[in-house]
Amino acid sequence: MNEKNPVITLGDLEFPERTVWMKTYGCQMNYHDSERIFSELEKLNFKQSDDQASADLLIFNTCAVRDLANQKFYSHLGETKRIKEANKEKKIAVCGCIAQTDGKELIKKYPQLDFAFGTDVIDSINDFVYRTYAGDEKFHVNTWDKGSDYSIETKITHGTPQAFVNIIKGCDKFCSYCIVPFTRGREKSRRLKEVVDDVRKLVEFSGIEEITLLGQNVNSYGKDNKESLAMLIQALDEVNGLELIRYTTSHPYDVSDELIAVHGSSKKLSNHLHLPVQSGSNTVLQRMLREYTVEHYLGLLEKLRASNPNIVISSDIIAGFPNETEKEHRATLALLDQAQFDFIYSYAFSARNGTKASRMKDILDKDIRGRRLREIQKYQLDIQKENRSKMVGETYRVLIERKGSMKGIEKWKGRTNCSRIVHIEDDRDLKWAWADVEITEATALSCQGKIVKIIKSKLH
Ligand code: SAM
Ligand code: SF4
Ligand code: F3S
Repeated sequence: MNEKNPVITLGDLEFPERTVWMKTYGCQMNYHDSERIFSELEKLNFKQSDDQASADLLIFNTCAVRDLANQKFYSHLGETKRIKEANKEKKIAVCGCIAQTDGKELIKKYPQLDFAFGTDVIDSINDFVYRTYAGDEKFHVNTWDKGSDYSIETKITHGTPQAFVNIIKGCDKFCSYCIVPFTRGREKSRRLKEVVDDVRKLVEFSGIEEITLLGQNVNSYGKDNKESLAMLIQALDEVNGLELIRYTTSHPYDVSDELIAVHGSSKKLSNHLHLPVQSGSNTVLQRMLREYTVEHYLGLLEKLRASNPNIVISSDIIAGFPNETEKEHRATLALLDQAQFDFIYSYAFSARNGTKASRMKDILDKDIRGRRLREIQKYQLDIQKENRSKMVGETYRVLIERKGSMKGIEKWKGRTNCSRIVHIEDDRDLKWAWADVEITEATALSCQGKIVKIIKSKLH
């Protein structure tokens, strides 16, 4: 029987059990924010629901980074007009990066919306929910936390051994194409001791074994406090029971020699580093305000590979930056050859309001951007195929996540320490097991493997 929670009373309002449906767009940071929001809402008697139609509260956690993410949200939001008309009791909210910059306009323009809140006030979600049920109509909050500290506790609502841990928020880089500094504000880091204590608790009380340290620019972590990402990883290495540390995303400008050395010496740091380069042309990098050259970037890869010969590097590329010439585009293809990335995320340039690049007089049309993007992707896939084929016969430590169907065959899916996805056909219950897996087949995009040894088996 499905028992209901008792009604929670807050002030003069009663909160019976309700359901919340949430749609998250964008990066890991947004997904992690959604989890914080769920965790807060549990205190007001909300349960998560996958059913948009029946949920009492709908929340859209939005991303503004490219036009496509925007469009997806706006078309989804449009559909909710009908839902609200059919049931006026339903509450609909928008948060995240679009709500930070455009919350006021959204509230005005869309009658179905009850409230909007920005990226720096998500921990106040229950105040907003209280206000809306108390009858406060159509409000938005997108203030910045002006304090110098960034102090939080990681909240998790899932029952898996993996957790995201925010260590720094905001971004001070202002790359000429990027909206993030406007949607996430200035950089602020948590103190090292707070993060280590937080992780220790996650390991001890929530069974966490793998953490991903999160930030838009994690390797500028701790600057204001004379702390650093390298120091943090060294401290986390000593947390008993923690098996694997990942971090994302990093900016090449802030990769210090100290951090490179930690990639060689750490007992727990993943053998994967995502280090976005964006372009292989120095002139484009200058226009992007990225503050490094291709030579500097390749020098970093060389040092990282010397420090940890097993390291696997991935990257982000933007195709068709304003006024990119054919020669500049070719330089990016040449960089792919030199860098030998394990994989890349690649995007066609998308003009974002308020950024410097959006004000550049640009002669490139959409077709050129699209053609260059396809060329980059094809070029990289050939490199990837070649690199991945070398995995066959090698054994990797894998955390097995879930079972899924592949071409009608049930297979386990896991990720190697270096972040490559592996599929395994095996009848045993391997959910959340750590295992050594031998790679039997590898294509550009996925690998097949067989279990050599189960190291640790754990059901959550
Ligand atoms: N902080 C990370 C860094 O500095 O590389 C990246 C964060 S951003 C959320 C993720 C990626 O989106 C970027 O690396 C970039 O490739 C891409 N991106 C950001 N703004 C873009 C734009 N206006 N058009 C196309 N791609 C964009
Ligand atoms: Fe955007 Fe650049 Fe900041 Fe990354 S470092 S979030 S690309 S402004
Ligand atoms: Fe998008 Fe905001 Fe992340 S713009 S990529 S959700 S920081």
